[in-house]
Amino acid sequence: MSGTNADLPGWTVVDEGWGRKAVDFSTLSEPSNCREYVALHHQLGVDAGSRLLDVACGSGLAIELARLRGASCSGIDASARLVAIARYRNPDCDIRVGDMYHLPWDDETFDVATSFRGIWGTTPDAVAEMGRALRPGGRLGLTVWGHLKVSPGAWALSPFRLAAAEKVENQAAMVSLGRPGVGERLLESCGFIDIERVNVPFAWEFPDPEIYARALASTGPAYEAIQNVGEEAFRSAALEQARQQVLDGVPLRAEINVVGYIARKPGGTE
Ligand SMILES: C[S@@+](CC[C@H](N)C(=O)[O-])C[C@H]1O[C@@H](n2cnc3c(N)ncnc32)[C@H](O)[C@@H]1O
Repeated sequence: MSGTNADLPGWTVVDEGWGRKAVDFSTLSEPSNCREYVALHHQLGVDAGSRLLDVACGSGLAIELARLRGASCSGIDASARLVAIARYRNPDCDIRVGDMYHLPWDDETFDVATSFRGIWGTTPDAVAEMGRALRPGGRLGLTVWGHLKVSPGAWALSPFRLAAAEKVENQAAMVSLGRPGVGERLLESCGFIDIERVNVPFAWEFPDPEIYARALASTGPAYEAIQNVGEEAFRSAALEQARQQVLDGVPLRAEINVVGYIARKPGGTE
C-alpha cells in the first residue's frame, strides 16, 4: 500500500485499504457475515459471562453479536476507522487499534478468542499470540476462506484478481490456511489441542449489482485492485460479474466456502 511512513509500524498502513470506506464496509459488506459469526459463536459455546477477544474485529459486528449472547467482549483491529465503528456499536467493550502480533492484554485474560478471516497463511504468528491471551482450557475459533474455486459464489471475489500480480500471489498465500491439514498443523504447532475443522455457513447477499460493487470496493483486497486498475475499472468489472448472476425476485447471493477451526488451550477447565 502506498503512503507508508518509515517511522510508523507496518500494520498502521492497513487502515489505508480497510478504513477508507469504513461506513460502506460496516453496512454493506459486514452484515452478510452474520451467518459465520452466529455459527462459530454457537460452536464455541459463547454465552453469558464468556470473556471474549475478537482479533481483526473489523467494524465490530461479530463483537456485537457475541455481546448480545451475554459475553463480555474485547477486540482489536489495525484499522482506526473500522475500530471507531466497532466502538460506536459496542460502547462498553474494550476495543483497541493495534496489531494482532502484539495483543495489548495480559497472558490468560480470555475464555474465548476468535478471528473471522482475520488470520491468514501469511500471519501465522498471530495464532500463538491468541494462545498467550487465552486462559488454560480457553477456546479458540478461527475462520478462513476455504476452497474458493469450487464455491458457487466465487464470482463475487474475482474482481480482487485485478490487483498487481504480486498482490494476487500474496492473496493466494493468505488463503492457504484453509487447505486440508494446514490449519490443523499450525494450531498444533502453537500448542492447541482438541482441534476440529468445522463447517461454517457463509453467503454474501446484495439487493443489486450496484450495491455489490460498492460493498466489494470497501474491502482491503479491493483497494489493492483499485490501486492497480483504478476505481472505475474495478467497479465495471464488479458490475459485469454481478449482472450475470441476477435472478428475478431474489437477492444476488454468493455462497463462499469458509473453513472454521475450533481448538482448546491445554490445562484448566473447559
Ligand atoms: C477480512 S477482514 C475481516 C474483518 C472482520 N473480522 C470481519 O469479519 O469482517 C481483515 C481485517 O484484518 C484487519 N487487519 C489486517 N492486518 C492486521 C493486523 N496486523 N492487526 C490487526 N488487524 C489487522 C483489517 O483491518 C481487517 O479489518
